[in-house]
Amino acid sequence: MEDGSGAKTMTSRYEEKRMKIMKKGGTTGLLVLLFMIFFWKRGENMEKKYSIFTAIAYTSAKPHIGNTYEIVLADAIARFKRFQGFQVYFQTGTDEHGEKIALNASNIGITPQEYCDNISQEIKNIWDLMNTSYDKFVRTTDKRHEEIVGRIFQKLYEQGDIYLSKYEGLYCIPCESFFTESQLVDGKCPDCGREVVIKSEDAYFFKMSKYQKKLEDYIESHPDFIEPESRKNEIINNFIRPGLFDLCVSRTSFDWGVKVPMNEKHVVYVWLDALTNYITNVGYDVAAPSNEFYQIWPADLHVVGKDIIRFHMIYWPIFLMALDLPLPKKIYGHPWLLMNNDKMSKSKGNVLYADDLVKQYGVDAIRYYLLHEIPYNHDGNITLSLIEERINSDLANVLGNLVNRTITMGQKYFQGHIQNPNQIEEIDHLFLAKINDLDQQVILHMDKLEIGNAIDDIFDLLRASNKYIDETMPWILAKNEEKQDRLETVLYHLLESIRVSAIYLSPFLPETGQKMLCQLNQKNDSRSFESTLKYELNQPEILFQRIDLSKDR
Ligand code: MSP
Repeated sequence: MEDGSGAKTMTSRYEEKRMKIMKKGGTTGLLVLLFMIFFWKRGENMEKKYSIFTAIAYTSAKPHIGNTYEIVLADAIARFKRFQGFQVYFQTGTDEHGEKIALNASNIGITPQEYCDNISQEIKNIWDLMNTSYDKFVRTTDKRHEEIVGRIFQKLYEQGDIYLSKYEGLYCIPCESFFTESQLVDGKCPDCGREVVIKSEDAYFFKMSKYQKKLEDYIESHPDFIEPESRKNEIINNFIRPGLFDLCVSRTSFDWGVKVPMNEKHVVYVWLDALTNYITNVGYDVAAPSNEFYQIWPADLHVVGKDIIRFHMIYWPIFLMALDLPLPKKIYGHPWLLMNNDKMSKSKGNVLYADDLVKQYGVDAIRYYLLHEIPYNHDGNITLSLIEERINSDLANVLGNLVNRTITMGQKYFQGHIQNPNQIEEIDHLFLAKINDLDQQVILHMDKLEIGNAIDDIFDLLRASNKYIDETMPWILAKNEEKQDRLETVLYHLLESIRVSAIYLSPFLPETGQKMLCQLNQKNDSRSFESTLKYELNQPEILFQRIDLSKDR
């Protein structure tokens, strides 16, 4: 198993078993087959599976809007995959062990478990408030998870990947990580910038160096494994090539964690405990993984912040290699959300929380801001005035205004009854083509995880619709008896543009998409221009209230 070829055999054995299980599930009868052919014919991917996992948030404190960004981002991807016909499994949860959490609990006189129960529930409430559609919310204090972590540790020890030794080094208490001198930045923790202390303890170590070459080869030969490209270079050049040190995977200085089975003075290092959440909660066990496991693993996508890529792009793949399991297909190290171009921190007093923002602006306004304003590869910025500018310019002016104007005109000129008289003019061709191009554009960007650009594609169509109103001037057509068919055609085109936009907006802004469709009172779910629908419009309602920017806050 130590050499590459041995592990390769195990991985292909995993693949064989997986194929067998997937096949069984896929051939339970003629009905399923017919169903699949039906969707295949519609060009959808109903039979395909997609699994997506966020990092699990620490239960040390209430999560701020930066942590919340990650679950919203993953939710948009998960919803879009479902929209494309994939059968999605979407997992998130909380990371609950460690010294810092035990300390926080003792500071307020409650047990670590009580502390974690409270914060984990608070995190779940925020994820729910943000309308995120996760399938499973996991906790590392879950008994089953703890038992499997113990068995994983034991297995790795018995096969010689983990050994007992002594550790003396530079330690960052908040990050619960040891560092070498050369890893420090200005003598401080490279992850959080705080002071490190010298610490010595008996400890178990994981033989990282044994897998160094194999990991480097894997990354080089799987160009889709790490995104963005810049993170891949960072991982290879800054961490792997300089040489991987064996990793300390146990602690004796505190006891809020999973006990090491063969030596209960030690608890398992939080990152070994936390990372394995991805498999312990989908049916993995050392003796025999369940059928569910083969359906979900390997993960299609891990969505994690740029600060924890070292753990996900080095330690996690190596742990999986040691367990003879396939690696996730892709790990996306997303950028961060900064508050006024600065890192959010309680001590600086510049932290924003999702629940406060939602109370003030509504869920979809905040989802829009997070999904649209943080580029794929660069940190994004947030302030209250930036949120308000976006609400006014994009959500109220471009989107809200278009829907309101169109439905109001539909009611005013045709009492809400609109069909397509097909009085086409030259100007229409480009507009109708734009409606039909939306699918291709959005998919192109979503496939590259460029969520902000995918949303821009939809808003481009909304902007083009506003321009179409300005150019066709329905209020002038309305004055001319002979132009009634042309007027109805123009309104019909606009309604179709709004309908298709609403359908594409739904994975990103689910409530808004729904409200738009409700105002249109149209059930047809075709994703391109339809020429023969009958519209019986509802009354217009304001989607996003404009914010008066001149008012003092
Ligand atoms: N518990 C670990 C993850 C373990 S995964 C096996 C952890 N927790 S965390 O609560 O600190 O962070 C959760 C996620 O939020 C991480 O992916 C982190 O990068 C992300 N973010 C934390 N601050 C952030 C911003 N300001 N902006 C965007 N994402 C941010 O790390």
